[in-house]
Amino acid sequence: MTVQIPRGTQDILPGEVEKWNYIENTAKKICENYQYREIRTPIFEYTELFQKGVGDTTDIVQKEMYTFDDRGGRSLTLRPEGTAPVVRSFIGHKMFGNAVQPVKLYYNGPMFRYERPQAGRFRQFVQFGVEALGSEDPAIDAEVIALAMDIYKQLGLKNVKLVINSLGDKESRLRHREALIDHFKPHIGEFCADCQKRLEQNPLRILDCKKDHDHPLMKTAPSILDYLNDASKAYFDKVLQFLGTLGIPYEIDPGLVRGLDYYVHTCFEIMSNAEGFGAITTLCGGGRYNGLVEEMGGPETPGIGFALSIERLLAALDAEGIELPVGHRTDCYVVAIGEETKPAAFKLLQALRSAGFSADQDYLGRKVKAQFKAADRVKAAFVAVIGEEELRAGKASVRNMATGEQKELPLEGFITAFKDMANRGEA
Ligand code: HAM
Repeated sequence: MTVQIPRGTQDILPGEVEKWNYIENTAKKICENYQYREIRTPIFEYTELFQKGVGDTTDIVQKEMYTFDDRGGRSLTLRPEGTAPVVRSFIGHKMFGNAVQPVKLYYNGPMFRYERPQAGRFRQFVQFGVEALGSEDPAIDAEVIALAMDIYKQLGLKNVKLVINSLGDKESRLRHREALIDHFKPHIGEFCADCQKRLEQNPLRILDCKKDHDHPLMKTAPSILDYLNDASKAYFDKVLQFLGTLGIPYEIDPGLVRGLDYYVHTCFEIMSNAEGFGAITTLCGGGRYNGLVEEMGGPETPGIGFALSIERLLAALDAEGIELPVGHRTDCYVVAIGEETKPAAFKLLQALRSAGFSADQDYLGRKVKAQFKAADRVKAAFVAVIGEEELRAGKASVRNMATGEQKELPLEGFITAFKDMANRGEA
């Protein structure tokens, strides 16, 4: 039997990979415009990073991590997300001392979660994310959200909506926590074993439970928004005002709690509401994590960010029927007729490539007609033919495949003449 690809992973083949490059380049360009700089962190980290950073009571840490011991007996984990590694790096490289503040970073790379695979949910997926560290200005919350929205907008998506909530500061969260315990405790026996543990450890996680989400007590659970203290309320209002200033519509959802422990104040998700989009509609998630840097051993530093997966973005593009302007380009296919013309043809091919053209030739010993067919198959814009006669005359015969126009170009100075012909071909 042949070896299969692991469940929840996928190969991205030529034809598809161009879309990935296009999306990633678009997102990078937008990040650069917003003055975010790229950071690359390792694919694996010490397991404790995520236990501390993402939170011991989260599904990610409890059930979904790819954790293994290396040969030295150290516990390592394939990164399930990018925020904790960025914060580790921020502290390790003392970026809090950087001349340019806040520190604005973006990343793009594979993440790993042992989840039940389904449409839009993979075990290896690619997150594009940003983190802004060092500012507690509500305007930067709006900036981060605007950046995420811009990525979707520039790629042509229309049916996306922003859902936002505030989890308040520590004090607000503590008061809300007590209220949640009072609410769920009398009936906790009706909930799953996980929720029963969550009641004391982290009752907010109950609201995020995938098994019990239809329990009637979920709908009547105390809303965090009723427990925000004045400072938290004022902060949230300012974020909403800035979103208004930028003309970004939003929907407030007091039930939005997110699946990671580090959030305070602003948290948000961007969902697709395209018709026919699968059951998992969240395209992007993020929020503020003011205590995280300190918790991980750095100086008190506020932070906010988001991550979106390219897989779900592609699914959203599909659902909206959006074709990205990508394709494979062949500027010239070089056809050699006869054995003795091959060196000259090969030389011409390399000259074309060195001059920046995308070009190819036959490597299967095909006859002339079949070489032309091969040129057609790769949709070559031009075909350059060198036969014995051309070789003797020091020329190549070049055909514009769209117009049928044919011209003899000298091998000496071919590139200049070809550029000319190609330019005219485009006009
Ligand atoms: P998250 O909500 O766990 O947040 O993931 C963010 C995004 O990653 C999701 O909205 C979704 O697009 C994508 N995603 C998550 N799991 C999968 C999966 N199994 N398959 C495909 N896509 C998936 C975080 O990871 C936070 N680090 C975001 C953040 C950055 N918060 C602040 N800064």
